[in-house]
Amino acid sequence: MSAGLQARASHEASLAGTFARQVLHRVPPIPPHINLSDKVAIVTGSSSGLGTECARQLLQIQLTHLILAVRSQPKGQVTASKLQAEFPKARIEVWVLDMESYDSVREFAARCEKLDRLDVAILNAGCGKMRFTRCAGDHGREVTIQVNFLATVLLAMLLAPIIKNKGAIVGKAGQSLQVPGRITIVTSDMSFWPKLDENALSILDSVDSPQGFDGMMQYGKSKLLLVMFVSKLAEVVSPDDCIINLVNPSGVRGTRLMREAETVLPRLLVWLSGILLGRNLVDGTRQYLHSALVLGKESHGSFCDWKVRPYPPYMYTESGRRLTAQLWDETLKELRFAGVETVLQGLKK
Ligand SMILES: NC(=O)c1ccc[n+]([C@@H]2O[C@H](COP(=O)([O-])OP(=O)(O)OC[C@H]3O[C@@H](n4cnc5c(N)ncnc54)[C@H](OP(=O)(O)O)[C@@H]3O)[C@@H](O)[C@H]2O)c1
Repeated sequence: MSAGLQARASHEASLAGTFARQVLHRVPPIPPHINLSDKVAIVTGSSSGLGTECARQLLQIQLTHLILAVRSQPKGQVTASKLQAEFPKARIEVWVLDMESYDSVREFAARCEKLDRLDVAILNAGCGKMRFTRCAGDHGREVTIQVNFLATVLLAMLLAPIIKNKGAIVGKAGQSLQVPGRITIVTSDMSFWPKLDENALSILDSVDSPQGFDGMMQYGKSKLLLVMFVSKLAEVVSPDDCIINLVNPSGVRGTRLMREAETVLPRLLVWLSGILLGRNLVDGTRQYLHSALVLGKESHGSFCDWKVRPYPPYMYTESGRRLTAQLWDETLKELRFAGVETVLQGLKK
């Protein structure tokens, strides 16, 4: 797990570390024994960017049944038609999933329960809102926090028992052994930089305030919260049942993630990081496949690309550890309405 990598955390988060990872190292190819025939996989946020390319790469390794989880059915259908033309033998379905709505997340998970099998879920849907907006509904939080963090971990917790009971993928080369199915959750190296309010009574309330809202920083916080929570989730779920890890694609050129950046600085930052440090979409996405299919139990709860990497440095500080424990409690309370504690009881190691 990433916990043993503390000594390298600051370097990995530095510009030099990012440059080394992004520019000096190439993403290795996927080993040829990895094959997804007879398997079922879900990719969320798959109507554009990394999600669509991830869907394509899964189909390239013979995935039998792909579920494109998208918020717009017509947009998903366009993506599905293109992929179907490329991979005529695959079964490709479009299922609606709007991460701004907890009802949609729960309905989606309930639909997944009816699948005969579910082997891999790649939770890729994400956004970076530049203006403070809250999601609708009783439990609505600021959109970036809810989509990237709260709804994503809710979905992970609801899918974990399904994958535990119905999922498996091929193990190491030369072994016919099946290893547990996966949930791979997409984070970002933007999680390296933000700090949380250490004196806040509630972390979730502190990131849900329009006061001093900064869209770029909020995006980083949403991804940091994700890493903190998943590091705890992995202590509860056994990697013998379902491997849950985090993938960091780092900077990837040619997606529409920061589509809302209106002011010069965020635009310049996104553009510059893309030019100087960005990977192309194909290489960037291949890191998803490494985390989801190649890395094994050693990646459970970890921050990965094609290797297990350190957590964001903040998580190794005393306050980072304290806030991680606090976030775990707060999040389970926040999502209690969806029965997550009962789900976790059933998953306990
Ligand atoms: N590009 C990078 O450099 C980079 C770096 C690190 C991490 N990431 C992460 O990679 C993931 C994919 O981003 P991307 O770069 O490919 O950007 P993108 O092209 O904007 O893709 C984001 C996807 O998430 C979907 N999405 C957004 N809000 C949603 C919601 N409420 N419900 C359901 N789906 C929703 C979008 O759907 P629509 O198509 O309907 O808008 C889109 O398909 C994100 O989690 C992002 O944080 C990207």
